[in-house]
Amino acid sequence: MEALNGFRLCVISFLIFLTTLTQTLSSTAFHDSEYEDWESYVNIPNTILTYGSEMEEAEWQMVQKKGNQFVVNGQPFYVNGFNTYWMMVFAADESTRGKVTDVFKHASSVGMSVCRTWAFNDGQWRALQKSPSIYDEEVFKALDFVVSEAKKYRIRLILSMVNNWESYGGKAQYVKWGNAAGLNLTSDDDFFSHPTLIGYYKDHVKTVLNRVNTFTNITYKEDPTIFAWELMNEPRCTSDSSGDKLQEWIKEMAFYVKSVDPKHLVEIGLEGFYGPSTPQRFQFNPNSFAQQVGTDFIRNHQVLGVDFASVHIYPDSWISQSVGDSHIPFVKSWMESHIDDAEKYLGMPVVFGEFGVSAKDPGYNSTYRDTLINTVYKTILNSTKKGGSGAGSLLWQFFPEGTDYMDDGYAIVLSKAPSTSSMISLQSTRLALFNSLCSERCHWSCNKKKVLQKVLYQEDEL
Ligand SMILES: *[C@@H]1O[C@H](CO)[C@@H](O)[C@H](O)[C@H]1NC(C)=O
Ligand SMILES: *[C@@H]1O[C@H](CO)[C@@H](O)[C@H](O)[C@H]1NC(C)=O
Ligand SMILES: *[C@@H]1O[C@H](CO)[C@@H](O)[C@H](O)[C@H]1NC(C)=O
Ligand SMILES: *[C@@H]1O[C@H](CO)[C@@H](O)[C@H](O)[C@H]1NC(C)=O
Repeated sequence: MEALNGFRLCVISFLIFLTTLTQTLSSTAFHDSEYEDWESYVNIPNTILTYGSEMEEAEWQMVQKKGNQFVVNGQPFYVNGFNTYWMMVFAADESTRGKVTDVFKHASSVGMSVCRTWAFNDGQWRALQKSPSIYDEEVFKALDFVVSEAKKYRIRLILSMVNNWESYGGKAQYVKWGNAAGLNLTSDDDFFSHPTLIGYYKDHVKTVLNRVNTFTNITYKEDPTIFAWELMNEPRCTSDSSGDKLQEWIKEMAFYVKSVDPKHLVEIGLEGFYGPSTPQRFQFNPNSFAQQVGTDFIRNHQVLGVDFASVHIYPDSWISQSVGDSHIPFVKSWMESHIDDAEKYLGMPVVFGEFGVSAKDPGYNSTYRDTLINTVYKTILNSTKKGGSGAGSLLWQFFPEGTDYMDDGYAIVLSKAPSTSSMISLQSTRLALFNSLCSERCHWSCNKKKVLQKVLYQEDEL
């Protein structure tokens, strides 16, 4: 009975979608699978996106993992999302708080469903953690605001707990704190191994996860608005290229996060370099330095408690700063090799947690940026349509108007980039349709999969 109703529901929602979609397709110049001409997709009817979000409106549930997919409300959850790292700090100030709302509003207008942002600011201006276990309540309220505002716009958050880099404090700040407390630490990588610093980090994790949101009264560790916890932004431990030191840290911390909060998903925050455990995969690394930074994509992600894989994509910082079309094949093979690994060796989804290109790079133009984004999106879709591990991508980075002074070159402002904006919308629409149509009950094998492929991806072979 249950199954029959489920099936009927699927059929009905599929028909609604098909009708809407057919209208969409006939009203836009949807001519081939290469989507060369993005300008022609500007007018995606809101009905599709609205319908997608109404489905979720029913219940705001925790995202979970089943095999190599994310699932929520009995449906797959393939992600089109973005990064805006400074949300908390902007929310801490009355004069900039509105920008936080702007980001979510704009992102939701193009169908984005996940935002990755910092749940840390250690010892700096507007610090959340002023010193170990000493918090600025005003800044914590600002993080509360970010979480509550995200929910209003039906956007889920990946919250990162500390930085590998010095911006916003990072592991260097933890080492400074340790030395101020009388330790004699000489390397920032002591962050990964010194028991005192490990204690500081765990205390921070515990404090954030147990925080009761002052806007919603929901404890962070109970809040479905939070999609996942990230152990660290781009961990590297160059002082131990064997990878053992970082591996131990990941093991201990993934276990710790799960012990405080068994409900949320956990990821590491890695850039995705192949390390010593898989020399046969060095060929996919962007350069030969990548294998020596103490990280190890496969081994690190085999740790108990790590639910999904994270990979970043920066040919302009890893291969050559001068951008060119030669970076594009790297992007494709980098993504495909990680998707492959996630399917064959890890049995988990993989999220491309950061990708983008800096407008300050020599040779940059906006057409190139669109080509890069298009490549990432297509590779995700290619995996999505097989129900594969390529679970989504998060642009680095998404800015509202009037924040140019924060731009590191990578900022995308929707109103200034209409072609990019329509690409994002189309990707969101496609993933939302896929998510809505392919409920678990319907299974991949049902005939609609073929129709789906034809309609969504315009495949010729059918
Ligand atoms: C601190 O460590 C360095 C190198 O490990 C050592 O040379 C130095 O003597 C130590 N200083 C103190 C005060 O222990
Ligand atoms: C949160 O809890 C407090 C105290 O129980 C209550 O006064 C307040 O109305 C609650 N706020 C929300 C948003 O539920
Ligand atoms: C943009 O940059 C790419 C990559 O460098 C180049 O191939 C292309 O010709 C450029 N396009 C324009 C319009 O300048
Ligand atoms: C999609 O995947 C197939 C193999 O499954 C591959 O041949 C094709 O090149 C891929 N297309 C893109 C755009 O990545």
